[in-house]
Amino acid sequence: MSFPEHRPRRLRRTEAMRRLTAETHLSVDDLVAPLFVKEGIEVPEPVISMPGVFQHTQESLRKEVRALTDLGVPAVILFGIPAAKDATGSGADDPNGVVQVALSMLRDEVGDSIVLMADDCLDEYTDHGHCGLVSADGTVDNDGTLERYASIAIAQADAGADVVAPSGMMDGQVGAIRSALDENGHTEVAILAYAAKYASALYGPFRDAAECSPQFGDRRGYQMQVTNAREALDETAHDIGEGADMVMVKPALAYLDIIASVRQNFDVPVAAYHVSGEYSMLKAAAANGWIDGDAVALEHLMAIRRAGADFVLTYLAREVAERLNA
Ligand code: PBG
Repeated sequence: MSFPEHRPRRLRRTEAMRRLTAETHLSVDDLVAPLFVKEGIEVPEPVISMPGVFQHTQESLRKEVRALTDLGVPAVILFGIPAAKDATGSGADDPNGVVQVALSMLRDEVGDSIVLMADDCLDEYTDHGHCGLVSADGTVDNDGTLERYASIAIAQADAGADVVAPSGMMDGQVGAIRSALDENGHTEVAILAYAAKYASALYGPFRDAAECSPQFGDRRGYQMQVTNAREALDETAHDIGEGADMVMVKPALAYLDIIASVRQNFDVPVAAYHVSGEYSMLKAAAANGWIDGDAVALEHLMAIRRAGADFVLTYLAREVAERLNA
């Protein structure tokens, strides 16, 4: 009998050996916590389809961001739910709008010790639930929406945002926002572009949390089709050309191929959004005892890092940060 010469198992023998030879690492520095803040509520409201996630009051948001800062999480991204919605989403760029109030409160609370990102979009603020202005024929008006996104970016930057993150997938949104920021004295505010955002069925629980389901139609007229990979590179190249400082692929686990090719083709920081449906599936299976939720959480985040993401937006941020710090 002959024995194998190649013995990779030598390197898997002990925990220390496995740590030594690990190619990918997950640290608290890789995590961004998405947070919801709602106008006009007295106590935080749990999001039923996302166990452990809340619609925050300003006060509970302050405490959550303080806790995340103390854990060393480097960034949060805010989504606002206004008390009233209208056709143009006027709460989105109102200086007294829910996210603007939150940004300036948080800037006072934590200074520069955590990066404050704000989602620049309209769907949480419009009564029809679309990410842009809706024309008479029912389609979303691209260029009219760009003016709204530019105005939202200025309001968020004025309120203290470090990063604005346009998520509506309108053509030219990054360029419109970059010029608006520059013309208004906000050259230092960065743009994280949702460059390859797919028309995914995994956003359902987010739409419960942000109360932003489209009231008619769907988002396939602006978000990318699930069938397309090369197009993600074209979208990303244009966003970087228009001034995106960082780019994002969303969702994450079903799009690891896209994360890997964006990583290979571009040198700006690459983010991945581990979205609400990915979180909810994990929590539901774990609650039933069908999987070990803690182990799968780390495996999934590691896979997203291994594919090439520099950082991950995930509702798991706080619990994973607590475990990594333990
Ligand atoms: C749109 C936006 C959405 C998400 C982030 N920004 C919803 C959508 O496109 O319908 C989804 C994030 C998630 O599912 O966690 N402003």
